[in-house]
Amino acid sequence: MAKLVAVWGSPNSGKTTFAVKLASAIYSEYNSTVMLVCPDMETPTLPVLFPNAKRDDLSSIGAALAKTEVTKDDVIRQTVSIKGMQNFGVVGFKDGENKYTYPQFDETKVRMLFTALSDIGQVILVDCTSSLSNPISSYAVKNADEVIRIAAPTLKSVSWQSSQLALYADPAYKLERQIQGLNVPDGELYMPVEEARAHISDIRFSVPYCREVKRQMTEGKLWQGVKDKEFSKKFRALVEKVV
Ligand SMILES: Nc1ncnc2c1ncn2[C@@H]1O[C@H](COP(=O)(O)OP(=O)(O)OP(=O)(O)O)[C@@H](O)[C@H]1O
Ligand SMILES: [Mg+2]
Repeated sequence: MAKLVAVWGSPNSGKTTFAVKLASAIYSEYNSTVMLVCPDMETPTLPVLFPNAKRDDLSSIGAALAKTEVTKDDVIRQTVSIKGMQNFGVVGFKDGENKYTYPQFDETKVRMLFTALSDIGQVILVDCTSSLSNPISSYAVKNADEVIRIAAPTLKSVSWQSSQLALYADPAYKLERQIQGLNVPDGELYMPVEEARAHISDIRFSVPYCREVKRQMTEGKLWQGVKDKEFSKKFRALVEKVV
């Protein structure tokens, strides 16, 4: 069985950045087949991760979900690959798409998608949307072997935690088992890390701000390694924790 890891948390806390860096670290440390799933249909992630790709060079997982059966072959066909990274695939939505682009899909379809994904990859990493009204994110948080919940040291992140976690009190979401992390997504502004620690309980790890990572995101190069030793060390340690 493939290992399913969900990255979830407050808006703009660095979930996508974290998910890509963790997926890349797992890929290189364990030499495994890794599938990164980006289910956001409000701000499709593929055009953000691949800013230099033409729209037609990318494929959309919506096309696989639109069929009666979600097959392994269809998922492979709709997987975006990265030059130089064999056995690493990204599935998500394309530029211009939204929740009305494809017929609505329910949990049965989502389950079929994850069955197909686990036939393809050894590790499946889901960059969940903050709102679990997204059915792929909701399935991932409920069924993941590990859920990593990201917060940032900002008032918005604290406000999100305090408002939204109450919505997911149902044991199906396994809130108490989730691994809480604190990510610092900005280096220009003062980030009240210590104050945030007082408001966000049970922080198990923290990720520092890394200027190189910020630049990588704007250049579509998040897949590449970083020279920053502190940052890389964090991810190596996390790989051991979750895989
Ligand atoms: N540790 C970090 N070091 C430097 N920059 C970071 C770090 N984490 C996140 N960022 C930057 O912060 C911004 C928000 O990150 P990201 O898009 O990953 O957040 P998100 O939680 O996925 O947002 P959304 O809720 O919109 O999906 C981006 O510009 C990203 O490059
Ligand atoms: Mg994101």
